[in-house]
Amino acid sequence: MKRKGRIITFEGIDQSGKETQSRLLTGRLKDLGYSVGHLYFPDYDTAIGKELRAFLDGEKTYSSIVRQMLYAANRYEKLEEINTMLEEKDFVIIDRYIPSGLAYGLVNGIDGKWASIVESKLPQPEIVVLLDISSAVSRQRKSEETRDIYEKRYDFLDAVRAAYLQLAEEQHWLVVDASKTIPEVHRELWEQFSGVLKKYVSC
Ligand code: TMP
Repeated sequence: MKRKGRIITFEGIDQSGKETQSRLLTGRLKDLGYSVGHLYFPDYDTAIGKELRAFLDGEKTYSSIVRQMLYAANRYEKLEEINTMLEEKDFVIIDRYIPSGLAYGLVNGIDGKWASIVESKLPQPEIVVLLDISSAVSRQRKSEETRDIYEKRYDFLDAVRAAYLQLAEEQHWLVVDASKTIPEVHRELWEQFSGVLKKYVSC
């Protein structure tokens, strides 16, 4: 496969603004003339995605290791689509990808090296953007009733945030303070992002 595209993934705990900020970045890159594809995980429309939805809705129980494999399998279900996009587009922006598997996996007691091996046959992201917020900010942004079983556990969200920050330091991700307003977050993101982008393209 001839890979032309670069993968940018947006990461962060619930309510960190992944969808909004990935949309704004997509618009900005398109304005500069780049072609951009968009994907998100979990994809709840696939066979495995339906299992994940049932788990998140509290209808099914899976051990943490099975969940880890289901999340990874959900990405592999889309491998062909990812590869096609990478052939056709300059950038593929993905809301939650391998880094979600690593961060949430760590908090669930999954060995990081093993988790990375499970993910290793997927195209790896070039740029990871961590939208960093505390669980208190996440809580303010979403009502209790609409939260899935992970999202109701604020101690869990704090632990995921810590795991994300640790991985960000080890793997040189971009970290943006996402507790600010939408335009402020986009501005800070673009400032960091455009510096890194020069490694890949001339803009
Ligand atoms: P969502 O709220 O972005 O749809 O994600 C649902 C939950 O799944 C969220 O709590 C994060 C979790 N998750 C993992 O634990 N591992 C993964 O690999 C992914 C993609 C999500």
